[in-house]
Amino acid sequence: MKMVKAVIKPERFEFVKKALEDKGFIGMTISEVKGRGEQKGIALQYRGGVMIVDLLPKIQLEIVIRDSDVDTIVVTITEAARTGKIGDGKIFILPVEKSIRIRTGEMES
Ligand SMILES: Nc1ncnc2c1ncn2[C@@H]1O[C@H](COP(=O)(O)OP(=O)(O)OP(=O)(O)O)[C@@H](O)[C@H]1O
Ligand SMILES: [Mg+2]
Repeated sequence: MKMVKAVIKPERFEFVKKALEDKGFIGMTISEVKGRGEQKGIALQYRGGVMIVDLLPKIQLEIVIRDSDVDTIVVTITEAARTGKIGDGKIFILPVEKSIRIRTGEMES
């Protein structure tokens, strides 16, 4: 199994969630996070100066999937989250050893 951690723009979240659901990816954990990428946040112009906003609000999705679903989920998230502008986000893939469904004790690895 793998965990897909995707950090995306909050305004794309509903669209990404729908795209995942359409492909059969239902279970997920999401968090409201703050982050920065290569641009170190953004520079906002205002009357009299420039203000640097360091950490921008993002949504992080954590989804555990079978190894064979990695390519599908990466394409699905990438296409649904992309606006083409900076800050569209990043996807990380991590190994997962085991999952246990608490109600039944059912184990997957
Ligand atoms: N190296 C990293 N490690 C952990 N999280 C990261 C890393 N790079 C980006 N992120 C997370 O992804 C979010 C979105 O990053 P972002 O899309 O700005 O990446 P980028 O590499 O700067 O690409 P772009 O040039 O398209 O903006 C960040 O706010 C941060 O939460
Ligand atoms: Mg960036």
